[in-house]
Amino acid sequence: MRWAPVLIMAGLCGVTMSQYEDYEDMFWLQAYVRSQSSSYNYAPYYEDEIPAYSYVPAGSPDGDPVPEPPVSRICPHECECPPNFSSALYCDTRNLRYLPFVPSRMKYAYFQNNQITTIQEGAFDNATSLEWIALHNNQITSEKMGKRVFAKLKNLERLYLDHNNLTKIPTPLPRSLRELHLGYNQISKVPSNALEGLENLTALYLSHNQIHEIGPNLRGLKSLIIVDLSYNQLRRVPDGLPSSLEQFYLEHNYIYSVPEDYFKASPKLYYVRISHNSLTNDGLASNTFNASSLLELDLSYNKLQKIPKVSTSLENLYLQGNRINEFTISSFCTMVDIMNFSRLQVLRLDGNEIRRSAMPSDAPLCLRWANVIEI
Ligand SMILES: *[C@@H]1O[C@H](CO)[C@@H](O)[C@H](O)[C@H]1NC(C)=O
Ligand SMILES: *[C@@H]1O[C@H](CO)[C@@H](O)[C@H](O)[C@H]1NC(C)=O
Ligand SMILES: *[C@@H]1O[C@H](CO)[C@@H](O)[C@H](O)[C@H]1NC(C)=O
Ligand SMILES: *[C@@H]1O[C@H](CO)[C@@H](O)[C@H](O)[C@H]1NC(C)=O
Ligand SMILES: *[C@@H]1O[C@H](CO)[C@@H](O)[C@H](O)[C@H]1NC(C)=O
Ligand SMILES: *[C@@H]1O[C@H](CO)[C@@H](O)[C@H](O)[C@H]1NC(C)=O
Repeated sequence: MRWAPVLIMAGLCGVTMSQYEDYEDMFWLQAYVRSQSSSYNYAPYYEDEIPAYSYVPAGSPDGDPVPEPPVSRICPHECECPPNFSSALYCDTRNLRYLPFVPSRMKYAYFQNNQITTIQEGAFDNATSLEWIALHNNQITSEKMGKRVFAKLKNLERLYLDHNNLTKIPTPLPRSLRELHLGYNQISKVPSNALEGLENLTALYLSHNQIHEIGPNLRGLKSLIIVDLSYNQLRRVPDGLPSSLEQFYLEHNYIYSVPEDYFKASPKLYYVRISHNSLTNDGLASNTFNASSLLELDLSYNKLQKIPKVSTSLENLYLQGNRINEFTISSFCTMVDIMNFSRLQVLRLDGNEIRRSAMPSDAPLCLRWANVIEI
């Protein structure tokens, strides 16, 4: 039971336990859980557990000279630095309005859930070992973000800036980035070089912004696996997708068309969501969604009048809330025999203009694996 809250927290933080197998890391997680669950106390929480620990906060009240703590112990007084995890800095959830000083040994810095508005120029210049920076749930604005604040962080892999007040993507971003979290801001434009050179970026989260154009920004991101652009104001799909892409989220935009062969560039793409957009059949080429890698396709709540052609390997197709008035079995099977049939398991067609009786008699042969068909 002892690890139960740790495991839960680990889940909430989006970290997997396999990354934290050794004892030191488990200690770190446990400390993190405690720092999250108890209200913050300016005395280090580990004081009674490690009496030998000699850290003295700067400026002792009785005016005695304060011994310099060793470099490996320096910790900004607003924050916590667990002694057994000397590369982690915890400054989260304590009403901070400014960014504390980051000692240069730090690899992980947590500033989330504060009221930070400003990242001053050079804020991280001495902390070039940083691998993770968590700044989510603050009020950082693009105007008050110093120029090139992240530029020198050659080891930065994860940057959490979601739930802030950014209107622009900060640039330049270090090429070492693997995950970029920018959801829930007020970003409206993505300049054409904003994501240039991020060769290791695997996950890009930009949902809940006001982006109306993303241009060819994604094409060059050769490690990109997941892109979330949902809840924006896109009228067009991004110009070109990287070949590594596996998951693509575009729901709740104003997209009305998808070019022919658009998904051919991404042979590993298996998950596409474009629900709650303005797609019509006129905006689609006849084989746009007939991409053999797709397993799940969500086109619900658009303005489609026909079922688009899909590949026989598709497993889940969501088309509810459109204007479909015809059950075209040719959208699923061009021919039917022992080898040629659709692998579709779930088909949703409810909230359209067809009745169940419209299902052609040869449908069961083509859709022989379907276990849910809602009309
Ligand atoms: C710190 O780690 C060492 C071994 O790595 C261990 O012996 C010691 O008890 C730990 N301290 C705390 C407070 O967990
Ligand atoms: C920044 O790093 C330099 C060189 O390592 C060091 O001399 C200086 O004291 C550091 N400044 C701060 C504020 O840590
Ligand atoms: C950030 O946005 C929130 C919600 O829109 C607003 O209440 C707050 O005043 C903004 N903060 C700054 C610093 O702009
Ligand atoms: C990308 O990741 C690889 C493998 O982990 C690493 O060797 C390389 O230095 C990284 N690229 C950048 C620009 O950091
Ligand atoms: C999908 O495309 C393949 C060729 O790539 C073709 O053989 C198949 O008939 C198409 N499916 C439909 C439903 O048109
Ligand atoms: C029918 O199935 C065979 C064997 O899997 C395949 O080679 C052929 O291309 C399929 N034909 C169509 C029209 O899908």
